[in-house]
Amino acid sequence: TFPGFPQRGELTHGVVPPNREDNIVVPRGYEQAVIIGWGDPVLPGAPAFDAFKQSAEAQARQFGYNNDYTMVVPLRDDSKALLVCNHEYTDETLMFPAGKYSAAEIVKIGMAAHGMSVVQIERVGRSGQWRRDKRLSRYNRRITVNTKFEVTGPAAADPRVGKVAYGTFGNCAGGVTPWGTILSGEENFNGYFDVTGTVPAEYVDSFKRYGVPTTVTKTARLWSSVDPRFDLSKTPTEAFRAGWVVEVDPYDPTSTPKKRTMLARLKHEGATTTFTADGRIAVYTGDDERGEYVYKFVSAGKYDPDNRKANFGLLDEGTLYVAKFTGDGAADGLYDGTGQWIPLTSDKKSYIDGMSVADVLINARAAADKVGATRMDRPEDIERNPLTGRVYAAMTNNSNRGGTFPVDEANPLAKSHVRDTLDGPLVEKSGNRNGYILELSEEGDDAGKTGFVWTLFLVCGDPAAQETYFGGFDKSKVSPISCPDNVAFDGSGNLWISTDGNVLGSNDGIFTVPVAGPNRGQVKQFLSVPFAAEACGPLVSDDDKTAFVAVQHPGETDDATFEKPTSTWPHTDKFPRPAIACVWRRDGARVGS
Ligand code: FEO
Ligand code: CA
Ligand code: CA
Ligand code: CA
Repeated sequence: TFPGFPQRGELTHGVVPPNREDNIVVPRGYEQAVIIGWGDPVLPGAPAFDAFKQSAEAQARQFGYNNDYTMVVPLRDDSKALLVCNHEYTDETLMFPAGKYSAAEIVKIGMAAHGMSVVQIERVGRSGQWRRDKRLSRYNRRITVNTKFEVTGPAAADPRVGKVAYGTFGNCAGGVTPWGTILSGEENFNGYFDVTGTVPAEYVDSFKRYGVPTTVTKTARLWSSVDPRFDLSKTPTEAFRAGWVVEVDPYDPTSTPKKRTMLARLKHEGATTTFTADGRIAVYTGDDERGEYVYKFVSAGKYDPDNRKANFGLLDEGTLYVAKFTGDGAADGLYDGTGQWIPLTSDKKSYIDGMSVADVLINARAAADKVGATRMDRPEDIERNPLTGRVYAAMTNNSNRGGTFPVDEANPLAKSHVRDTLDGPLVEKSGNRNGYILELSEEGDDAGKTGFVWTLFLVCGDPAAQETYFGGFDKSKVSPISCPDNVAFDGSGNLWISTDGNVLGSNDGIFTVPVAGPNRGQVKQFLSVPFAAEACGPLVSDDDKTAFVAVQHPGETDDATFEKPTSTWPHTDKFPRPAIACVWRRDGARVGS
């Protein structure tokens, strides 16, 4: 517990039980409604969604597929706001009625359904409910696979990358900067490239380290069939223009979005910002793959609250670090220890022998390999608690822990328990199947420092499984939780967690947990998302009246087809549509209460 930590804003909401509903389920006293979904108009001229009349031209003006990271930024009129979200990827088996579209049409619509959206939303009355503003504000924007980006930072001068890139895809989580721009992480970029011939020998090692194909490969998407940028035999350097953090200014729809190379090239889950004690900017970012690393960037310059544009270059100069976790042993009964942020490069000087600044940024994984950083169980979202300064990171799972990757105190589980159905028995499996929430406390809780202590705050799973741990809280009084992905905080510093890939037989959802006070560790399920959907976001509004949830890929199971959908949420059509919803209390009180 933290002396002096304000014990306001307790999490008194009812608990949503594990379930298999094809709906968003919320606690008693709460309401929920969709704000915007796949295919809804974003730009003037966009037709209303019609599954049987899709086109690339329409999709480029409509809300994209698979809304993931979601942020709401304010406008001067506080009954309006801008919702910004990523469209991570497409699921063609769920999007297209069988036999209706040509292969080329499907590719082009899929490309246009990627990227990001900025869309104005409006408050319904004085409640916590928001809806899309059907008047299509001048701020509304679609960013797609073809949008022009300016590449900034040290790697822009490298011929492998260059100063211009087109499009963003595979965008997972993100963050908002103090100057009101949105950061978005390009994650599984490797899966978008085909190879029809050979790739340059000098790129093979780098490509392999990122899972980028090096021999003849045809992805199911086959984007190379309509654009040679996605054929690495023809455009090998295109792979170096992906895997960055992008920055978008939602307040200027004419602005050229940026790819910020100082934040390193990796499979970015997201990127979240905070202040150091002396007013610089720190950015945390996880590389979401089994056995990859956790990174932090600290800017050289300080934030200027009086001149917004003066901050636009802050993410181009500073130092990039990678985390090393050292355990203090099992004797204390806790998975915990000390850690170090190890510098990899500044914008001017590389700290890795034989690698230039650009080499380190472009091949950050190889640089991190050389300094003995700790291989983690799929680092996902990382966020610093604005009230306590402690940092929370989701490690979603790693079925190969204890196999390919030896256990260590920060990644301790070689075995864990899952269940196949809601009522099925717990079954032991190899590896870490349910994930962790890692808690870091940097020296003086200053994000500018390089030393920290850490502890596994949550060892997720069914509380009946002996390996689980809920911050020391009574395990008979917590919700089961599996595969934490994204994290956020409400105005009281409570942690909100969304999950992806629940292996306990129930739908994914959003969970709340106090990180301080007597109820530290009391995980409670706040909502569940429809069948076979992933819960993204989460986001609690600044006024604490609204929780936002991005429902990704409802109905996405291995055997999903148009004829036999496993979900029809949000039940506006014959088949499922990803959408962003809001949740609020009927009586207008704080969400979580
Ligand atoms: Fe796109 Fe790391 O989940
Ligand atoms: Ca994610
Ligand atoms: Ca220990
Ligand atoms: Ca995910």
